[in-house]
Formats: sequence, structure tokens, C-alpha cells
Amino acid sequence: MTLRINEIAPDFHADTTQGPINFHAWIGEHYAVLFSHPKDFTPVCTTELGYLARIEEQFIRRGVKIIGLSVDPVKSHLGWLDDIEATQGAAVRYPIIADEDLHIAKLYGMLPAEEQEGTARTAAQNATVRSVYVIGPDKRVKLLITYPMTTGRNFDEILRAIDSIQLTAKYKVATPANWNSGNDVIIAGSVSDDDARRLFPEGWDAPRPYLRIVKQPGDQDAAPSA
Ligand code: BEZ
Repeated sequence: MTLRINEIAPDFHADTTQGPINFHAWIGEHYAVLFSHPKDFTPVCTTELGYLARIEEQFIRRGVKIIGLSVDPVKSHLGWLDDIEATQGAAVRYPIIADEDLHIAKLYGMLPAEEQEGTARTAAQNATVRSVYVIGPDKRVKLLITYPMTTGRNFDEILRAIDSIQLTAKYKVATPANWNSGNDVIIAGSVSDDDARRLFPEGWDAPRPYLRIVKQPGDQDAAPSA
């Protein structure tokens, strides 16, 4: 199955390091980041989960809950947490799902393709790749990115994208390339110039009629980038 932006993120029941959950109920009124990693006790994954533990506060400030996933059992996840804290300098406080039967991995398309059609999956192909899903309080997929097993993710980019997603959900703007919270934004193409004059009474710069640049609306100190 291929998930697409704006689709409802599939709901599921799962065992986690913090007990059983129903995914949608666990998200509640928050945003959520669901991320998969290939395997416990592996080096890149250790740095990823440790980095997320170090910046978890940045997600909490934005009203975002974090949850990890791999196909390893809860017992393995729990054993690994000590290593992450000892080597990465922060304790993992977010839950990690044990998707032992690959139910969620298949539901979300987190498994890599078989290398050859018709051949049995190898153990490596039964491990989840590095997928990230940002899900809104409406339970719809707002962003999805997948990295290969050998490439650790940039979680600062996920925070940056969440800032844009939350800003553009509230105001009729879009954010330009490499934008960070506090930078100028672009008036959404769906807004007519007449409506823009009402929404942005201080005016805008328009190097082209379709490129209308304004100061970022709202409280810029609410959730500064990491
Ligand atoms: C790692 O986390 O280091 C890793 C896991 C699976 C495949 C390759 C690297």
C-alpha cells in the first residue's frame, strides 16, 4: 500500500515500550511523528533515537508526540534503551512500537522492495526502512519521507517542516525553499490580491505578480526552530 499526503493515516493497535496503544487514540488532539528504524542495537539507529531523545522537548513545545517502530520485540527495545542513553547522552522517553508481525510496516509501506520479483524476502528486507510520517490532529498524513537503511535522518528538517505545516494550517501562506521559522513567507496562490490586502494590511513585496512575499504572521517566538 502507498500512503499519500492528506490520506487518513491507518489506525492500528500495537504493543509498545510503554504498553499497548491504539494509534489514533494515542495521537488524540496532537500532531504525531511516527518513524520506523530497521533494527535495534545497530549504530545508525542508535544515533537517530538518541538525537530524537535529545530534542524531544522541541517536539513537545510544538504539540507533537513522537513514536518509533521496528519489527523487534518490546523486550529488545527495552534492552537497547540503556545503550542509547549511555552512548547518546539522553534517555528515550517516547514509546517504541514492536511490530513483530510486520502488520504496521505493511499497512504503511515501510518495507523495502524485494530485490528480485518472486523470490522470498530476506531478513534485511523484513526490516523497516527509515520512514517518517507527520500526522495531524485530524489523523491525516501531512508529510512522509523515506530514507535508505544506511542514511541517518536529519530530524531538524522534520522540526522545520512541522513549523511550516503548522503555520500554513493557520494562515493562508506557503513557505519558500529552506525557510525557517521567523523568515518571510509567501501569500498562498489561492488568495486574491483583494483578499490579501485584507489579510495582510501592511502589504507585501511582489517581484512577480505570483510571488507575493510578506512577514511571517503570528507569534514567531512560539516555536523557534531547533
Ligand atoms: C544501522 O542502524 O546502523 C543500520 C541498520 C540496518 C542496516 C544498515 C545500518
